[in-house]
Amino acid sequence: MTSTVNPDLESAVDAPAAALAATMEDPNWWRQASVYQIYPRSFADSNGDGIGDLKGITSRIPYLKSLGVDAVWLSPFYPSALADGGYDVDDYRDVDPKLGTLADFDEMIAALHEARIKLIADIVPNHTSNLHEWFQEALASPKGSAARDRYIFRDGLGPDGSRPPSDWDSVFGGPAWERTEDGQWYMHIFAREQPDLNWDNREVRDDFLKTLRFWSDRGVDGFRVDVAHALTKDLTEPLPSKAELGPQGGNNLGEHPFWDRDEVHEVFAEWRTVFNEYTPPRTAVAEAWVHADRRARYASPDGLGQAFNFDLLKADWNPRQFREIITKNLVEATSSGASSTWVFSNHDVVRHATRYGLPPVGADSDDGQDGGAWLMSGGTEPELDRALGERRARAVSQLMLALPGSAYLYQGEELGLHEVADIAEEDRQDPTFFRNRGVDVGRDGCRVPLPWTRDGESFGFGFGGAHLPQPAWFGDYAVEVQEADPSSHLGFYRRALELRRELQGEEDFEWVDEPSADVLHFTRPGGWHSVTNFGPATVDLPAGTVLLSSSPLEDGRLPGDTTAWLV
Ligand code: GLC
Ligand code: CA
Repeated sequence: MTSTVNPDLESAVDAPAAALAATMEDPNWWRQASVYQIYPRSFADSNGDGIGDLKGITSRIPYLKSLGVDAVWLSPFYPSALADGGYDVDDYRDVDPKLGTLADFDEMIAALHEARIKLIADIVPNHTSNLHEWFQEALASPKGSAARDRYIFRDGLGPDGSRPPSDWDSVFGGPAWERTEDGQWYMHIFAREQPDLNWDNREVRDDFLKTLRFWSDRGVDGFRVDVAHALTKDLTEPLPSKAELGPQGGNNLGEHPFWDRDEVHEVFAEWRTVFNEYTPPRTAVAEAWVHADRRARYASPDGLGQAFNFDLLKADWNPRQFREIITKNLVEATSSGASSTWVFSNHDVVRHATRYGLPPVGADSDDGQDGGAWLMSGGTEPELDRALGERRARAVSQLMLALPGSAYLYQGEELGLHEVADIAEEDRQDPTFFRNRGVDVGRDGCRVPLPWTRDGESFGFGFGGAHLPQPAWFGDYAVEVQEADPSSHLGFYRRALELRRELQGEEDFEWVDEPSADVLHFTRPGGWHSVTNFGPATVDLPAGTVLLSSSPLEDGRLPGDTTAWLV
């Protein structure tokens, strides 16, 4: 774990250029924010029950502040039986008692705001949990009832209706339909505990508007919208078969029965009117695994305003791919009026320190839909080159932090944490694992509770164990260990985030051509240069003062797998 920071050069940065030290009222705060994703159950546990909680988050705000992020995005913290890590919500307007209370929430958000950190809440509109009172009511109500109309119930096929209404698969494996006691079937794109809502139902729409206001009134600054591209559906019968639909998602341009239909934007236009009732307007970012050409619709200022772009996360270690992706996304963001988003890790994919330490997976699929599933398959530990993975992860993270737009970071990436591969079957939690036995290990490996101390009970995560087992090597990556070493992965992230705040100006960007095709070099306003060497050979750096490099320079030259910033 080594990076270099030039300690004498703090003053080389023009402090007034910190134009982005946005006030809490700045309506554009999100455009170039660094956003740190917290998976609440695995961040910090305050009461020793092995599950991270809101008080745990509040206790770690000094850490978030020292890391230097602008906002925190909380994965779902609502009451949930955890059939899908909290993305199965029982009640949208409460806090899971396992995680705390609404009072704890208020305390947490006040403390975050005091630290000038914004809060983005995850909202899950495509499906409720099967324990949601609406679904329980639907099950208890007859076929054709108003209670059933909030969901997607259909009769089955065949003389006795015993075959599902279509042969569609759920994203987590297995059929997308589940039969109920009275013989009807309900649709679930994800786990069977996640029945899909019917977004043609006005009551469903109104209830979400109420939820958006509920959290906005409590001070939530923005929303991350789960599976934003699946809400509206065209389920006109007869339903097409899997074969007629083509590969999951396909290269679909709005004609699929449930992925990325145009009508979904009517829903988000309504949400926008609610967001704009607040000062500053609440923000939103769509999780939409859609064809790149259709992403801008989600990012429209009349809709959610921003959309995740997972292109870099799916890219190979290849400067040409990086360059194309960056160029394309910046053009796209400009055209939609949004700013770009960048992300290498989240709670659904293999951690990027591990991804870059594994041999290439092979051809990437470009259909914009199943990339998530592709990445969810865990890498296998034996082939992992940890040091290489961490080195490359630092290099690309530094590159990302120099790009215009918002950078989304996932808890633990600042520690260079790796995916945990060795989780026993009885400890696994992710439905992906159970529904695809032997094929897909699921996403538990990136959700293991964070190590805060080198030793001790659950490495300082709490005092009563950890809900997913932590491997012995976690201690080496602990916050405590890295805080003592400015050249650590954490020390590097802190410095990079600090410099980003100081250097970040207008969203302009320009490529600078380099003699080596392995090198990506761009400039930002104020003479800020970012240079990344993807190749093996050490190369010359342009003239200027080096502020930070992701790995040590060699006689002032840039070695392979390294990024440097210069002014
Ligand atoms: C999103 C979430 C993922 C969840 C799924 C279903 O993709 O990021 O964690 O399993 O939606 O809600
Ligand atoms: Ca707890």
